[in-house]
Amino acid sequence: MFSSFVKPVVFAAPAKLNLFLAVTGRRADGFHDLVSVVAPVEFGDTLRVEPADTFSLTCDDPSVPLDETNLVLKAARAFAMAANWRGGARFVLEKRIPMGAGLGGGSSDAVAALRALNELAGHPLVAPALAEIAAGLGSDCPLFLHGGPVVMRGRGEHVEPLPATAAPRLSGRRVLIFKPGFAIATPWAYQAMAAQPSTYLPAGEAENRLAAWVGASAAPAENILFNNMEQVAFAKFVALPTLLEQLRSEFALAPRMSGSGSACFALLPDVSPTASIVRAVRAAWGESAWVAETRLA
Ligand code: C5P
Repeated sequence: MFSSFVKPVVFAAPAKLNLFLAVTGRRADGFHDLVSVVAPVEFGDTLRVEPADTFSLTCDDPSVPLDETNLVLKAARAFAMAANWRGGARFVLEKRIPMGAGLGGGSSDAVAALRALNELAGHPLVAPALAEIAAGLGSDCPLFLHGGPVVMRGRGEHVEPLPATAAPRLSGRRVLIFKPGFAIATPWAYQAMAAQPSTYLPAGEAENRLAAWVGASAAPAENILFNNMEQVAFAKFVALPTLLEQLRSEFALAPRMSGSGSACFALLPDVSPTASIVRAVRAAWGESAWVAETRLA
């Protein structure tokens, strides 16, 4: 079906961090509305895509499900349907982003698959069509169609680039990401907030905080850091606030949880050793803790 001259394509699937995450309330469809500032980082998975007769997926991490529940294969089916494309592809995923971390790994893989297939198929779909498919795959997917920091609203389907006055305050910032050996399931975190509506931040307040930070031209990235999912996550998983408090007092860092966790992160000064911080993370969370040093894209 395909000529052997068609080259495989390789796409980076970066992780993301929510620098600002305000869950503002529950919607009639069961999802939650949010206002979030999200940035991809210079670290992530790699997806290699080769033309084939049918869709298949392999991965170097045996814990990744390879059946139709994987978002990569769901993305492939959705792409083929929307583009009326009869081809297939062999996906080879190099998994580096931990799962159940709030780092958007599965969503980013799915968007890498969409972009790769659109390239292989000769770009039959334009940006709005890709965005619509992405939104149908998962709330965190559309943000990965942009290469840099974005503001995300609705359940995640409304995405716009962070205004040019504010984006440079994030892009390039050095960051340490660390995750304990356990994961947090996103549906659990949202359900826990729904059971305790006082944890929501009213939408007006979220927008005011965001606008104030965007408008204050000298306000650094540190000033926008916020996540109201921390309240429910920290109440159940006390290892998280215990370490974050220690990092605040011992290292003068301003650590936060990303998304629904369990990964947390801390922005770092441009040049400073991280060995003692990593030692503190491992002392608190044990050797199963995962750590990555990278930069916001
Ligand atoms: O969209 P996604 O499949 O990533 O969402 C996983 C689950 O997280 C949803 O089924 C829903 O329970 C919850 N969720 C939510 N509001 C959002 C995003 C996710 O309630 N904006």
